Amino acid sequence: MNKIRLLLPIVLSGFLLTACNQKTEESSSSSTSQTKTSSSEPVGKPVHIDPALAKKGEALYNQNCVFCHQADAIGKPGFAPSLTNKEFLSVASNKFLMGTIRDGRPGTGMPPFSHLGRKQVEAIVAYLRSHGNISDISASVDAQPESHGDPRLGKIWFDQICSTCHGPNGDGYSAGSTGTAIGKAGFLNKATDGFIRFTIVNGRSNTRMLGFKGPAAMANLTDSEIEDIIAYLRTVPSKS
Ligand code: HEC
Ligand code: HEC
Repeated sequence: MNKIRLLLPIVLSGFLLTACNQKTEESSSSSTSQTKTSSSEPVGKPVHIDPALAKKGEALYNQNCVFCHQADAIGKPGFAPSLTNKEFLSVASNKFLMGTIRDGRPGTGMPPFSHLGRKQVEAIVAYLRSHGNISDISASVDAQPESHGDPRLGKIWFDQICSTCHGPNGDGYSAGSTGTAIGKAGFLNKATDGFIRFTIVNGRSNTRMLGFKGPAAMANLTDSEIEDIIAYLRTVPSKS
């Protein structure tokens, strides 16, 4: 615990400074080397995109999504997340993407798009996936075991670290925070423990979500601390 109390203010203050002039150029983020430190390396499969479908999806994206998620879906801190950073695209299954777009996220700024119908949502997903040649590791990540962590310990970590960007109870932007509503059912019902674990470990390039493992991390959490945080997150929606 001590290590983190000492480390966090320093890391966060440096981080906030750099975050301000954050640019969209592809950072040579250490996420690949960080992934290697985790015990089970997820296996990816290459994604094949139909260019005509992606083109159709781009037009639909520009009609329905660009206002919030911005050009090229790079996102806008505190307003809408990036949909094209490589960690997100590699870990988000088609089921996660299609379901999130269809249902939106109740209680957040993400509206439902069920009126578009499956075909058009599929085209939007093809467009999102056409950003970079990113292999899809979602099947192996989603198949990872569920967390058996201790939610009481996880709450301590969450309140100390995660709530600074995700808000108390993970309420997200509505609490004036820069991170998404990870304590709400709209996210938690669609994300597996493997998805959450991968995101905590690797972070998301070119966003304020840095990873939490290894020397370059915001704070170096152990595997069991990460499990505790996941277990805590699972308890949040029933309380709020
Ligand atoms: C410095 C700010 C910051 C901190 C601290 C932080 N996050 Fe994040 N997190 C973000 C941002 C910003 C995003 C969304 C990325 C984007 O905008 O594209 C995010 C995204 C996520 C996501 C994906 C959510 C989704 O909607 O898909 C998870 C899960 C997550 N964070 C978990 C955590 C956990 C657990 C902690 C604490 C250990 C934590 N974060 C700490 C800023 C932060
Ligand atoms: C009015 C603004 C708005 C519009 C329009 C909008 N979104 Fe969102 N979207 C958001 C916000 C805000 C979130 C984050 C919600 C949260 O805090 O969990 C989000 C989250 C998402 C996520 C989850 C990302 C993650 O990191 O897990 C996906 C996928 C997504 N939106 C896709 C789309 C697509 C595709 C469209 C167009 C069809 C769209 N959104 C239109 C505001 C919007």
